[in-house]
Amino acid sequence: MSDLNAPRKFRIKAPCSTANIGPGFDVLGISLSLYLTLDVEILDGSQPNTKDFEMTYSGEGANDVPLIPEKNLITKTALYVLHANSIKSLPKPLKIHVHNPIPLGRGLGSSGAAVVAGVALGDALGQLNMGKDRMLDYCLMIERHPDNVAAALMGGFVASYLRELDAADLEITSIPVSETFDNVTNGTGPAPPQPPRGIGHFVRLGWAKEIKAIAIVPKFEVATAKARAVLPNNYERKDIVFNLQRLAVLTTALGRSPPDADLIYNAMQDKIHQPYRKTLIPGLPDVLTSITPQKYDGLLGICLSGAGPTILALATHNFDTIAEEAMAVFKKVGGFDCFYEVLDVVEDGTTCTYL
Ligand code: HSE
Repeated sequence: MSDLNAPRKFRIKAPCSTANIGPGFDVLGISLSLYLTLDVEILDGSQPNTKDFEMTYSGEGANDVPLIPEKNLITKTALYVLHANSIKSLPKPLKIHVHNPIPLGRGLGSSGAAVVAGVALGDALGQLNMGKDRMLDYCLMIERHPDNVAAALMGGFVASYLRELDAADLEITSIPVSETFDNVTNGTGPAPPQPPRGIGHFVRLGWAKEIKAIAIVPKFEVATAKARAVLPNNYERKDIVFNLQRLAVLTTALGRSPPDADLIYNAMQDKIHQPYRKTLIPGLPDVLTSITPQKYDGLLGICLSGAGPTILALATHNFDTIAEEAMAVFKKVGGFDCFYEVLDVVEDGTTCTYL
């Protein structure tokens, strides 16, 4: 193995993402043009007064996110990747600056981006050259639904599923995430097992270039665990068929140019998660039903982004008018403020560039 402490500099960029897109609960994800960025430098260790580890952070969460390697989600993910590959510590002296423009806890894949960036960081620090398919396995050991991480890693509009695992693989994946990290961060336990190969499978779907994503972001957080806890364990067959029919149509309809607004709007309806999450997001049904392609030229479809509370509207034009109407409905019915961003779908996914 080459010298892992050799001085070098690189930048990792992991995009934010939206998941579900209406009927595709835990299946569909789209990577969007807002990037978590890590500027990483392994310094020359022979210079005096260099700290072994220095981490700085700007942007969303700057006042709250821990900056010690064993506690920060990005660095502890990198440590997990390194330990699983028998590398017991970070290279040093190591300097990392994180810039995060992705709002936390809003359904825009902030933790997915952190996990993907952490896996890419572990890969680069350990000079592992894993390749993205293998990196996806590591991401899925930490974030157990593939929609956000597959999109953030691979880029574009992505459908994914988890492979059914045999008993040996199940044993590895059933280790709780906290234990995976504890083994690593207390530095005493054995190396964690490497993930089974090919846990996640994905396919890139076509995306019509003229479609942009409007993210209407409420100024409060909803924890994904809480948004999953309100969902039922069992569904009626008619609701599952309702979603499957729309999901199949949507995966092709969003790649067709020019986009068919009526087809897409109806294909973005959902009966699996949104109806249950309205208790957590006052005004959700009002926003979803009051903004239609008939009323707003350019609108294609509207849904909850991931586990919420952000609303995702897909549109070809009229972005500001659509966003302002959604914000006005939330203000009137829910009594809270939002902001919005008009985002592009990005093709590259996560990148690591040597500087
Ligand atoms: N699909 C997940 C959910 C969100 O809606 O709970 C992100 O993975």
